[in-house]
Amino acid sequence: MSYFIGIDVGTSATKSVLFDETGKIIFSNSSEYELIQPQNGWVQQRPNDWKNATVETLKSIAPKVSVDEIKGIGVSGQMHGLVVLDENNNVLYDSIIWCDQRTEKEVNQIIDTIGKERYIDLTLNAPNTSFTLSKLLWLKNNEPDVFKKTRKVLLPKDYINFCLTGVFSTDVSDASGTGYFDVKGRCWSEEILNAFDINEKLLPQVYESLQVVGNITENIALQTGLSTNTIVVAGAGDQAAAAVGHSVIKPGCTSISLGTSGVVFTAVDKPVCDKFGRTHTFCHAVKNMWHIMGVTQGCGLSVNWFRKNFAQEYSYAELDENTKEITSDGIIYLPYLMGERTPHLDPNCRGSFTGISVNHNCFNFYRAVLEGVCFSIKDCCEVICESGIDLNTIKVGGGGAKSKLWLQILADTITENLYTSKCVESGVLGVAILASVGSGYYNSVEEASAKMTDSNLAMTRFNPGKINYYNSTYSVYKNLYFAVKSARENKND
Ligand code: XUL
Repeated sequence: MSYFIGIDVGTSATKSVLFDETGKIIFSNSSEYELIQPQNGWVQQRPNDWKNATVETLKSIAPKVSVDEIKGIGVSGQMHGLVVLDENNNVLYDSIIWCDQRTEKEVNQIIDTIGKERYIDLTLNAPNTSFTLSKLLWLKNNEPDVFKKTRKVLLPKDYINFCLTGVFSTDVSDASGTGYFDVKGRCWSEEILNAFDINEKLLPQVYESLQVVGNITENIALQTGLSTNTIVVAGAGDQAAAAVGHSVIKPGCTSISLGTSGVVFTAVDKPVCDKFGRTHTFCHAVKNMWHIMGVTQGCGLSVNWFRKNFAQEYSYAELDENTKEITSDGIIYLPYLMGERTPHLDPNCRGSFTGISVNHNCFNFYRAVLEGVCFSIKDCCEVICESGIDLNTIKVGGGGAKSKLWLQILADTITENLYTSKCVESGVLGVAILASVGSGYYNSVEEASAKMTDSNLAMTRFNPGKINYYNSTYSVYKNLYFAVKSARENKND
């Protein structure tokens, strides 16, 4: 037997999963860490927490099989986060992660320096507060001493790859979300680096996702019990990894992730992009492929926030059970708790509940939260379709895909049948697939995906009887963003 490990450096935990060559999970372990929020809108994590969680989870995997049979490791991770190292490769500053919203000024600096249209031409994406470039400029503007000492700038999963192999690397899918990457050419953008005086030597070498970057170091082998014969591939950003795990590798194939953020991901064979920058266009983890991605920031985030603040006495299963037979009864929820990317690239937008009455209970509100998040996902689908792309065979993953209620609401909102796999670990499976190809066990991602992904998918059918209700509520929902925006602007006057 041959085995492959997929690691996901997530926002709440790092998860390591051991798969056999057929994609069966042999063992899985995860280790959580905290989010550090020193100010409103600031979100940081300690890269060494990710490293310790990786070592801990790998330690528990090593005894499960003969380590010589573990042929390869792939790492996926939260994208966009800024990790800076000094000349001794020590972390200089907590990582400013993807959902941090402190960099509006730096986004304006990018627009003033390059111009929005030229920037979209160069990177296929609009400047925004999530991408690494604005975070790096923030560091330069606000922590000049830290910036001066910086010798390497990495993304979260690339820091873990460095810890595992001693090699500085990144892959094309994750590099696409830095904001200084030429997504068409699959290389760093010289023009952007020059415009902001960023020395390319600070950046790691760029690899295709399935390329081998190195082997496990002796030190990591000693700490975890793994073998130095095990190779590590460049890996992928969490969304591209999950798409590979869902076998979303052909043009038009689509996946939706119901994670902390909600993502609609469509594979394309040409680097097409939305000229207004409402979606992202990134390299796929598969050679010669790209993907378009709509992102709603507050997906699982909304659901977790709601339960934590208003319904802590119920588990998610109990919330679903109590909500499945009731309606939101006129309550409409806008999920903009932490700014938004698609369709409104707006770091300052706010969420809202409207239409509430004294008769409503927490289950009406919970249903409204699920519906609001699904409307935002529908927005993502609509913007992607505006680029002339048909979404086909939509596969759904992420924590939210475990909820039948949420899946049904999503199917009814976007009027599509949805497919889910028994393996909910699509991100870690995706990078294990890349490792199986990188190690030479399989010849191509297509072959590995056919052998390792689940072909027996469950289907959630959309209910045609709900079309009128969801369409009319969606049109009210769409206008609410503008009402909330003008209320907020009034307040600031
Ligand atoms: C993608 C994105 C999220 C993060 C965290 O652009 O911001 O998927 O990677 O999951």
